[in-house]
Amino acid sequence: MKLNIALLAGDGIGPEVVDQAVKVSDAIAEKFGHQINWSSALTGAAAIDAVGEPYPDETHQVCLDADAILFGAIGHPRFDNDPSAKVRPEQGLLKMRQKLGLFANVRPTFTFPSLLDKSPLKKERIEGTDLVFLRELTGGIYFGERGRKDDGNTAFDTCTYTREEVKRIAKKGFELAMTRSKRLCCVDKANVLESSRLWRETVQAMEKDYPEVEVAYEFVDAVAMRLVQWPNSYDVLITENLFGDILTDEASVISGSMGLMPSASVGTDNALYEPIHGSYPQATGLNIANPLATVLSAAMMFEMSFNLSEEGALIRKVVDAALTNGFVTEDLADGGKSYGTNEVGDYLVKLIKEA
Ligand code: IPM
Ligand code: MN
Repeated sequence: MKLNIALLAGDGIGPEVVDQAVKVSDAIAEKFGHQINWSSALTGAAAIDAVGEPYPDETHQVCLDADAILFGAIGHPRFDNDPSAKVRPEQGLLKMRQKLGLFANVRPTFTFPSLLDKSPLKKERIEGTDLVFLRELTGGIYFGERGRKDDGNTAFDTCTYTREEVKRIAKKGFELAMTRSKRLCCVDKANVLESSRLWRETVQAMEKDYPEVEVAYEFVDAVAMRLVQWPNSYDVLITENLFGDILTDEASVISGSMGLMPSASVGTDNALYEPIHGSYPQATGLNIANPLATVLSAAMMFEMSFNLSEEGALIRKVVDAALTNGFVTEDLADGGKSYGTNEVGDYLVKLIKEA
């Protein structure tokens, strides 16, 4: 099979972790007889430096022309403490999500048996956790009307959703629940917010089309609590953009390291795969960043964009083996022996070749 993949390494540790995912994907392609054609393009601070824009038109075209997009991370500290900066790397990410119509952000949280002790939560609480958030990604308060009034002394951001926007993400949630345990949790704040009441009303009306799916409606504050109390009581969760942003960071702690969780952002015609961690600027170029979240994002890409489940499964298997054998970066080494970003990538490639 020919796979055309856009490669957006981005900022900070992005290029280093993406390099490992490329090596691993190439090894997989070789093993299974596929041909990957990588097309690199600029995003984030790197793109601002080069062309003054965090998501240039040329990059958009590269993404449109590809079958899938592999993305590293975006963000640079020189913009963080400057609220007056006119262009920011993060704007590139939001523009990319919107222009590519990536409305569903799939963020799984699962535990690795060999890492149960790494989680700050008690082992018996997290054992068996395997849940997926479907975060709405192109609507809500991220894209609503915002501004200042009263000479700049009052600011507002609005959360707007249409019934259609809720329907398309809820449909993905119902469909995913059907392939898993048939349990769906709709996370909202319907006791306060009108947009949440529209979510709930829309999801309720869809229940009849999926009679086998058991739907629970829970308020976001309660979910924030229960997520760390009983994470393994959840399966598929759907929620709006900002709630999903916050809850998925919280959920990533369950697995023991932010450097482990992959994600996919899918739309009708495009799909992008990226680790959920950020650009970790302090680690840039030090060869210490954990590449596994990006490598697992590549696994999701093989599975979701190309329907190549055996290929995805082999990537998951070698990642598991690296964790079990302690061939890990320093964030997972507990002060013991650790390996560089590159060495972990090479080790995964070696395991794929031997498999
Ligand atoms: C994420 C990030 C982004 C978001 C930022 C960088 C704009 O936190 O992908 O979760 O808030 O969506
Ligand atoms: Mn976030």
